[in-house]
Amino acid sequence: MKVLVLGNGGREHALVWKLRQSPRVSKLYCAPGNGGIEDEAECLPVNLKSLESLVALGEKIRPDLTVVGPELPLTLGVVDEFTRRGWPVFGPTKAAAQLEASKSFAKEFLQRHHIPTAPYAVCDSIDEVRSALTHFHLPVVVKADGLAAGKGVVIAATKEEAAAVAAEMLNGKMVGAAGARVVLEECLEGDELSFLVLSDGERVAPLVAAQDHKRVGDGDTGPNTGGMGAYSTASIIDDEMRDWLVHHIARPVVEGMKAEGAEYKGVLYCGLMMTARGPMVLEFNCRLGDPETQPILMRLESDLVEALEASIEGRVSDGDFKWSPDASVCVVMASGGYPGTYDVGKNIVGLGAAAGIEGVKVFHAGTSKRAGEFYTAGGRVLGVSARAPELQTAVARAYEACEKIRFDGAHYRKDIAARALKK
Ligand code: AMP
Ligand code: GLY
Repeated sequence: MKVLVLGNGGREHALVWKLRQSPRVSKLYCAPGNGGIEDEAECLPVNLKSLESLVALGEKIRPDLTVVGPELPLTLGVVDEFTRRGWPVFGPTKAAAQLEASKSFAKEFLQRHHIPTAPYAVCDSIDEVRSALTHFHLPVVVKADGLAAGKGVVIAATKEEAAAVAAEMLNGKMVGAAGARVVLEECLEGDELSFLVLSDGERVAPLVAAQDHKRVGDGDTGPNTGGMGAYSTASIIDDEMRDWLVHHIARPVVEGMKAEGAEYKGVLYCGLMMTARGPMVLEFNCRLGDPETQPILMRLESDLVEALEASIEGRVSDGDFKWSPDASVCVVMASGGYPGTYDVGKNIVGLGAAAGIEGVKVFHAGTSKRAGEFYTAGGRVLGVSARAPELQTAVARAYEACEKIRFDGAHYRKDIAARALKK
């Protein structure tokens, strides 16, 4: 079958890598792809922000299966358009993708369905913000309602700071139209967990859990990023917790969306805070996480095509995934300056030596390839990943690989999975 992956990040490289292992796949495309993906799939140009461009690509390829990586095409309605034309596509419709596209929609949905989440207020003006702030303790979280690529959340230490941030969001200076509405939220404490499930609109099957590291600096310091690294182990949550999360969060979401007429198919990514009062939802994503996908797929032993088809065809079951008991980790190497401004076009060396280390796979994100050489082309450049029976070994392998790779300005966190190793 002909399979098309949409996107150009590390998540998409991991998808391509895994899909290539399926005996069902005879031809693999990725659009637009990146330097590393070029070695494993045929890359084609596309504008991920344009439905016309995506549909034109579909017309050209007539894919038997399309896998949508990032949220933007989903929120534009690529699944609706492809489905209408009879092209099987994995992911939620535009209506269902609201769970990620609008934080106020998600919060109100959670409240309607009594799913645990932090107390919040939705505000459309600075006056509403000021009056709502009187009801919050400090620190308080200020969120842009719309999609802001990880840059729409600020934890404010004072009410003055919260009001100033909200004003910048509301006036469009901070994240454009995504900030036209803001959500204020109580700040939760605990460990974050990325809990992803496969849904066919009715049933859900959990993926192995993972933990992301959102802040740019070691010890969770500095600004938020798209994610600087992630790991997955069999012990990250126990079976009892997994079942609790399915019963109290994932399944009620899928059932609630169906009851409200927006059936949710695809991966539902529940971003959770494991608080002393129990797990609470921080956010939903309507897709696989990046970088969580890299360690998650490294542990997947069954055929990914079969699982994606089960979602599309409405026959998801607990047996859709077979997982390795091994641990896996992904360390993101980023461009100097990221998550702020950064230069691109830096030559990347040492990839061959890194790939030679046992259990290591280097997923490309912001890279391009010219005359057999790789160059940086984005903020997050590489997801240096490793798998091993013990987390400690996986982490050691990933960092050994990072040390072999060089490009001007490269930086990466040195403490991915460190807290799990201490436990
Ligand atoms: P979100 O896009 O809503 O997941 O927010 C991005 C990141 O901000 C999360 O992964 C958390 O690290 C942090 N965050 C969001 N909401 C809260 C909250 N209510 N309390 C504490 N941290 C939060
Ligand atoms: N790693 C967080 C995300 O994919 O949104």
